[in-house]
Amino acid sequence: MAVKIGNIDLGNFPLLLAPMEDVSDPPFRFVCKQNGVDMMYTEFISSEGLIRDAAKSVQKLDIFEYERPIGIQIFGSNIDSMREATEIASKANPDLIDINYGCPVKNVACRGAGASLLQDIDKMVKMTKAVVESTHLPVTVKTRLGWDDNTKNVYEVAERLQDVGIQALTIHGRTRAQMYKGEADWSLIREIKRNPRISIPIFGNGDVDSIEKAANWRMEYEVDGIMIGRAAIGYPWIFREIKHFFATGEYLSGPILSERIDVCRTHLLKSIEWKGEKTGIFEMRRHYSNYFKGIPNFKDYRMQLVKLESLNAINEVLEDISNKFDEVLA
Ligand SMILES: Cc1cc2nc3c(=O)[nH]c(=O)nc-3n(C[C@H](O)[C@H](O)[C@H](O)COP(=O)(O)O)c2cc1C
Repeated sequence: MAVKIGNIDLGNFPLLLAPMEDVSDPPFRFVCKQNGVDMMYTEFISSEGLIRDAAKSVQKLDIFEYERPIGIQIFGSNIDSMREATEIASKANPDLIDINYGCPVKNVACRGAGASLLQDIDKMVKMTKAVVESTHLPVTVKTRLGWDDNTKNVYEVAERLQDVGIQALTIHGRTRAQMYKGEADWSLIREIKRNPRISIPIFGNGDVDSIEKAANWRMEYEVDGIMIGRAAIGYPWIFREIKHFFATGEYLSGPILSERIDVCRTHLLKSIEWKGEKTGIFEMRRHYSNYFKGIPNFKDYRMQLVKLESLNAINEVLEDISNKFDEVLA
């Protein structure tokens, strides 16, 4: 059955790209979209930053027609600021607004935003209601299982947020205390899916990094779709591979070296297009080793790539890689 968020039809069992600060920007989203992702989110955007018109926050509002459906994710600790930020974000015309109640990092969670709201569900509910009332767009939420092992309260969170009007919930199967350590546990996510009171789509998130896991966890945890983050970094093909498997039951072979180079180059070009040559080249540096994982002695090439400052020089190194390594090595 097709999954719907408001009027957005996501098809059967959608795959979502996780919002990731410093990663899921327009250049990266472009290559994920090329590879079949069903829905994407911006990096999280500070409500205070938006209100103060901070350049970094405003830049993150940049979305493009071909990216639809796309959600803008916001976070904050002050309800009035969240209300105002929702109005600003809605004017950027995304398909939905997502609230981040999952971020565990200190300068977010310890300032009363992100996952810290899991410690104060009443406030979380009020904030969510304020966001829902401040926009004509559907509102979704992304959160974790709870604050720590003793307070895994996402079951209650799901009911109460649905009651104030959210239209989908993504749950990362870890607590705040776990940060990104240990293994994600999706069993509570299944309990929420089985709750007869819950009618909104529930998406599972955390540790999906292969076709097998996606297929097994889809069955085991009964979720409506899966959100993938880290496994897509340097490997946007994960979306098309999983989708292909679900559609046909067959494994698509992985990208050959020339495809890796092509996608890496596209990512770089989009990065330059969006951020300008200097910043575009600089920010692309963190991605090279991910695109060429598994290639023996890639380190030397990486060292070159992360030092170069012109597109031509980088293209020459990519050309070198293409000539040096056999296609099958990829
Ligand atoms: C580099 C990085 C940045 C992230 N930034 C965000 C963010 O801006 N908003 C958010 O909701 N989650 C953020 N997350 C969490 C991811 O969306 C996701 O929940 C987490 O990585 C688990 O999924 P995965 O195992 O598929 O990566 C971030 C994760 C990483 C690794």
